Amino acid sequence: MAKDKEKEKSIKELEDLPGIGPTTAEKLRSAGYDTINKIAASAAYELSELVDISVDAAKKAIEAAKQATTINYESGSEIYEKRKVLGKITTSSKGLNELLGGGVEVNSIVEAYGKFASGKTQLGFQLAVNVQLPHDKGGLEGRVLFIDTEGTFRPDRIENLATAAGMDPKYVLDNIFVVRCSTTTEQILTIERANKLIEEKNIKLIIVDSMMALFRSEFIGRGALNERQQKLNAHIHKLQNLADQYNLAIYITNQVMDNPGILFGDPTTPVGGNIIAHAATMRMYMRKSKEDKRIVRLVDAPNLPDGECVIKITANGIRD
Ligand code: GTP
Ligand code: MG
Repeated sequence: MAKDKEKEKSIKELEDLPGIGPTTAEKLRSAGYDTINKIAASAAYELSELVDISVDAAKKAIEAAKQATTINYESGSEIYEKRKVLGKITTSSKGLNELLGGGVEVNSIVEAYGKFASGKTQLGFQLAVNVQLPHDKGGLEGRVLFIDTEGTFRPDRIENLATAAGMDPKYVLDNIFVVRCSTTTEQILTIERANKLIEEKNIKLIIVDSMMALFRSEFIGRGALNERQQKLNAHIHKLQNLADQYNLAIYITNQVMDNPGILFGDPTTPVGGNIIAHAATMRMYMRKSKEDKRIVRLVDAPNLPDGECVIKITANGIRD
């Protein structure tokens, strides 16, 4: 029905074009030339024969169709500008966005590690709100799967951030699917079974807060390390697969331990070993500064210079 309407419209437009009367238009349509594009792409003699009109009439029709065909040119830099913002979630801090090359990007795993109260969860909340924003406001117009392994999800805090962003808090909360996990089995299964939810609900961001807490508490001691790393490896690969398959962003938080092997500099190391280190596309090290200030350092990011920026955790959320 809608298709017929469209055809009718394109032929009507054609009839309005100079040089094409209703009889020619009708002949064109019954011969299958039902859009301006098809006519513009045809050859005069072929059209004349197939539609049974004079070569002159065919030439006129083709010329008119060509005139009516608009081609939108875009410069390379315009496309580049668009690509830069496409597929990135704003953090609500200009400085942090710049550090991350525009924001938290899709198709990758972005990790934040740091000590308690360094702002890892707060940044997760901010992203859970911001991913719902329209594209021109730094969002992806998508929903969120939030895996909460520590029981730290706070709807009232989301409410505040949403209101500050000029969004309806109930709408924002409705779009965040929270799974409270108490075992690694639950955590792993939530991701293994996520495809349906992602497809049906247009999930554009998966948050795992925290990635390692349950793995650390369940697999204790040297003897369990092998099994832990194997399970962790499969889990994080599944996450990466989802990121690639659905063009979504993955934000994971991670804890730290003091590494006594490091004699100089900051001995703080994220837990999870090589498996997390290799899987994370971007790693942010967050640490507390004065009052509401936090220092974020980008570590080992491909295509981006290592660097630092300062953010604030305010009542309204993450800010410069
Ligand atoms: P762990 O999960 O314990 O490892 O820490 P984290 O890195 O996840 O810390 P989180 O993101 O929870 O940061 C907690 C800090 O955020 C607090 O110490 C506060 O400074 C700040 N914060 C949390 N809620 C609010 C709030 O409602 N208003 C303001 N202004 N700051 C807040
Ligand atoms: Mg936390």
